[in-house]
Amino acid sequence: MAQQLGETKAREEWGTRLGFVCAAVGSAVGLGNIWRFPYITGENGGAAFIVVYLLCILLCGLPIMIAELTIGRKAQSDAVGSFEVLAPGKLWIVGGVLGVLAGFFILSFYSVVAGWALKYFATAVSGSLWEIDKAGFGQFFGDYIAQSWEPIFWQGTMMAMTIYIVAGGVKKGLERWNRILIPALAIMVILLAGFSLTLDGAAKGVAFLFTPDWKKLGDPNVYLLALGQAFFSLSIGMAVFITYGSYLSQSSRIPVMASATAAGDTIFAIIAGLAIFPAVFAFGFDPSAGAGLSFITLPGLFQAMPGGMVVGPLFFLLLVFAALTSMASLLEVPVAFFMRVLEAPRGKIAIITGFVIFAIGIPSSLGFGVLGHIKWGDKTILDIMDFLMLNLALPIGGMITALFVGWAWQQQSVLSDVGLGKNVLGFCWLWLLKVVAPLMVLFVFLHKLNLV
Ligand code: PFF
Repeated sequence: MAQQLGETKAREEWGTRLGFVCAAVGSAVGLGNIWRFPYITGENGGAAFIVVYLLCILLCGLPIMIAELTIGRKAQSDAVGSFEVLAPGKLWIVGGVLGVLAGFFILSFYSVVAGWALKYFATAVSGSLWEIDKAGFGQFFGDYIAQSWEPIFWQGTMMAMTIYIVAGGVKKGLERWNRILIPALAIMVILLAGFSLTLDGAAKGVAFLFTPDWKKLGDPNVYLLALGQAFFSLSIGMAVFITYGSYLSQSSRIPVMASATAAGDTIFAIIAGLAIFPAVFAFGFDPSAGAGLSFITLPGLFQAMPGGMVVGPLFFLLLVFAALTSMASLLEVPVAFFMRVLEAPRGKIAIITGFVIFAIGIPSSLGFGVLGHIKWGDKTILDIMDFLMLNLALPIGGMITALFVGWAWQQQSVLSDVGLGKNVLGFCWLWLLKVVAPLMVLFVFLHKLNLV
């Protein structure tokens, strides 16, 4: 009989603490930091939004990340198995099942956008991107994503790289690649921000990002966006950190490592904003282009600026690496689950799961072209998946984790399991999980249903 729950066969483990933090930051830092955070911040009150966002991280995101890691380390199993070990026969397992499902669907559309980034990197390096007329980037992007085959090819290439990383295992795959890619990402984003900040007129971009527009705090939407962004950016609510926690040794200090991860993610997002907006303002481009910022506004900007032929490829490489490390964590959740349930080797499961997810993602890509008639309001297939996952699956998953650790777990035991002990910090953490985080998520739902 192969692995059982609470198995005896040695579970894979992270090699070093630094390796774990790189992998955790790798999951957290992604497309969410580089294109989403800067433009949402810019559109929603700059510094005022950042204050709300930081509160969401501190009061809700970080406590839930710590809770997920604690569940995984204690149970030593995957997303679903952990709930089976800790609460056999109870409904809490829904939290784990949602995590595996969310891993499937988020990765399916995330890989489409990651494929766009890879295509832009390739055309930026080959030089063909720079032959486009200044006013033609919107048209180029629209035409490109409306094609059937090419975007699927690049999406598949991103998935193949993700499968390769995950098939390598915890130490030789996830940890090894994140230890290379995360420092590379940090250097790239700092170089880009340094360059951007030295341009004439950069100060306007800094002001746009950091000058508070306190009036915006009266708009409930700002809180919703900040909370949704905090969940997505920290990769919480879909059991990535339950799975990653199950590879932690008992001696590792979860609160410290989770705090380092959350801080790394937040600092990265802010530096990404400092790389983008000063340059956007210096060249008089439109800062509120939303989702089109990375693929329409920025290529035009790179074309116009001195050194853009170097900065451009660097930016798209940054986007590709950031997406890749997040994709690996998304694939690891279902792979860990199927390895246990099907008792099959990692390599085989990674290939099959990755391939199925790739196939599920194809309609998201075609939704901009031949399947363009399938819409919900003005949302394409990709937007619908994005909306359902970010607004439903992640917050529900996060709320279940918070309530489970806060209420269903014996207080004495949980405080020693997390390594906080019976002190102010320990009790604060528990109360954030018991009351504050669930109420924040509930508020989001009620608002979505137009009840508050
Ligand atoms: N945190 C990633 C980002 O900011 O792009 C996205 C993500 C990765 C979300 C993994 C959820 C997840 F489980």
